[in-house]
Amino acid sequence: MSQAVKQTRYDEVYNEIMAVIAGETSRTARFATASCLLSQAFAPRFYWTGFYEVDPNKANELVVGPYQGTLGCLRIPFGRGVCGVCAASKQTQLVADVDQFPGHIACDNATRSEIVVPVFDQDNQLVAVLDVDSTEPDAFDQIDQQALEKICRDLLLE
Ligand code: SME
Repeated sequence: MSQAVKQTRYDEVYNEIMAVIAGETSRTARFATASCLLSQAFAPRFYWTGFYEVDPNKANELVVGPYQGTLGCLRIPFGRGVCGVCAASKQTQLVADVDQFPGHIACDNATRSEIVVPVFDQDNQLVAVLDVDSTEPDAFDQIDQQALEKICRDLLLE
């Protein structure tokens, strides 16, 4: 897929997600919509697409939320693996080769590269991370990062 085609597809999927979730009050419904539409827009490059949510009942722990893909781990402590580092640092993690990432959690051994983006609520509190994994090495670039950050930024806006 060329960079231009990829950008266009992100623009389309952004509009689609925002149209479907407009007025929706359920966070679960918003996360489910984004994981489904992103997964379908970028299959098969997006092998696992979904959210780990900050567990309000357990300090510094993520619990799996809506996703598309093979079975994901249920819980990830802050600081562990790519998702945990994203949650602890509140910064996007772009990992070209998961084998080079210390403490990477292999929920599925097929994963070769991944990108994890933080999701904040309207009070700027971290509520989740968006995790996208690929079976291709080095599958994500700056276009993916910018587009996924834009989707995550607007996902919980009313
Ligand atoms: N790859 C993630 C773990 C979650 S899953 O693979 C679905 C990580 O290292 O954070």
